[in-house]
Amino acid sequence: MARSDSGESVLERVVRILEAFTPDAPALGVGEVARRAGLPPATASRLVADLVAHGLLVRDDRRVRVGTRLWELASRASPTLSLRETAMPVLEDLHRVVGHHAQLGVLDGDEVLFVERLSADRAVINLTRIAARLPLHASSSGQVLLAFASTVLQERVLARPLGGFTRNTITDPAALRRVLAEIRERGVALCPGHIHLDATGVAVPVRRPDGQVVAAVSVVVPNDGEAARTVPALTEAARRIGSRLTH
Ligand code: PHB
Repeated sequence: MARSDSGESVLERVVRILEAFTPDAPALGVGEVARRAGLPPATASRLVADLVAHGLLVRDDRRVRVGTRLWELASRASPTLSLRETAMPVLEDLHRVVGHHAQLGVLDGDEVLFVERLSADRAVINLTRIAARLPLHASSSGQVLLAFASTVLQERVLARPLGGFTRNTITDPAALRRVLAEIRERGVALCPGHIHLDATGVAVPVRRPDGQVVAAVSVVVPNDGEAARTVPALTEAARRIGSRLTH
């Protein structure tokens, strides 16, 4: 693979360029792309031009954005998309019953990646977005995915500093270890005020027919002491999604 003088591959640089685009910054000038990707402006400009020529980025006035072609390539054979499509009707039913936010998250690296979220007007505050991530220890979906993850991953997370979002976030490794054991026993994670003091996350595991946990289905509801009422609807949703998963 082509490498620059710094020994970095072109592909690494391209990935950094694509990572520069975020929900808060979907359109960037080339100078800003260079800054965010940590590349010399001339290099960024050349790579951006290549990406535009392939339709992976598109020019929009004096800025560039992620192109539809990138979405097409990423979606065409994506296991994540097929999980999302399988789950969608069930997630819609869950959302009709519970209101506020219903979401589907998967383990990606050391984080939970949200692949779908249904929300409502005037729903409680929710920090998750589709294609956004949260740390495993802090969110209900993350705790579920961590509880059923490999012990290698669990120990890695437990060995690192656990950052707090609010005073309720679990930041003590021993407490997190106990919580993970409880989640394995009860099959549900409840996180009142862990991400935002006004909201409670409730999550349950989605199991494939062979028993493997492949996702977490969750709701974010007000932190008013009533969140546990959502557990039967969540459990039923997870069972329905799991039974539809064939691969
Ligand atoms: C959670 O999953 O615990 C969670 C996620 C996002 C929020 C609140 C709670 O905004």
